Amino acid sequence: MTLRNSAAAPKPITSLQNERVKAIRALEMRKVRKETGLFVAEGASLLITARQHGFQPQTLVYRTGSGTSGATRGLVEWALKAGAEVLEVSEAVLGKLASKDNPQSMLAVFRQRWGALPAAKTAGRADVWVALEEVRDPGNLGTIIRTVDAVGAAGVILIGAACDPYSRECVRATMGSVFAVPLIKTSREAFLAWRKGWSGDVVGTHLDAREDFRNAAYKAPVLLVMGSEGPGLSQAVAGACTKVVKIPMAGGLDSLNLAVATALVLYQIRGPHLTL
Ligand SMILES: C[S@@+](CC[C@H](N)C(=O)[O-])C[C@H]1O[C@@H](n2cnc3c(N)ncnc32)[C@H](O)[C@@H]1O
Repeated sequence: MTLRNSAAAPKPITSLQNERVKAIRALEMRKVRKETGLFVAEGASLLITARQHGFQPQTLVYRTGSGTSGATRGLVEWALKAGAEVLEVSEAVLGKLASKDNPQSMLAVFRQRWGALPAAKTAGRADVWVALEEVRDPGNLGTIIRTVDAVGAAGVILIGAACDPYSRECVRATMGSVFAVPLIKTSREAFLAWRKGWSGDVVGTHLDAREDFRNAAYKAPVLLVMGSEGPGLSQAVAGACTKVVKIPMAGGLDSLNLAVATALVLYQIRGPHLTL
């Protein structure tokens, strides 16, 4: 691809041993993402969402010949304009960088964004924040971030030893909502101290709860607290809730999937604010 009138230009790479290729591949490791503060998003549709939300790529990679039409060309131009490194790579190199299932012809490296716990007084009456205690499954976390975006909730607070929202699997499961939803991480102790300033309901979801989530009254702003896939809510966090609700179940199963349970309660709380 030739981009005339541009000071910067895509750099061709065909070697699997290229240092930049190795550095981008290394972002598959959580340790490297933590050290660098970077992450990878794959596919033109996610990159368009990133652009809409003001993210700028540090590096953009595309398969030779794929950056010449409509949306993908626009993304290459956007990256060059932002001063990003733009790499035009061979099929073999892209095969090393892209996910094996559902590979995409384009991916980009971005800087992670982490927010601070919201000041209690800035939580608006319609705000719903979701707090997840030690969420372990990146697919669940990605689905929850996507659902938080869908219902217009304010953001996601990760309590304790959570999985990484910037892992490849989680980013893909968000379908781009990782660029739209504020993410905050905190320890259990810091969460419990901060929660004391929350002016609305702190709603825990628990299998031992007596109140049906469909009948509960939720005092805004709502802080919805969900437990981990394995042990559920810890006693400390459950004890810090002003209200604990349950989703009734008919079958002989133990519980619902975490992401499904979060979606059900979020739609109950946010439903009145949503229109077609
Ligand atoms: C897979 S469940 C954890 C089950 C765990 N064994 C327990 O005893 O809580 C993960 C989280 O989803 C939510 N959850 C799942 N099913 C639920 C239900 N029927 N009622 C309320 N919350 C539920 C809770 O927040 C729970 O901590």
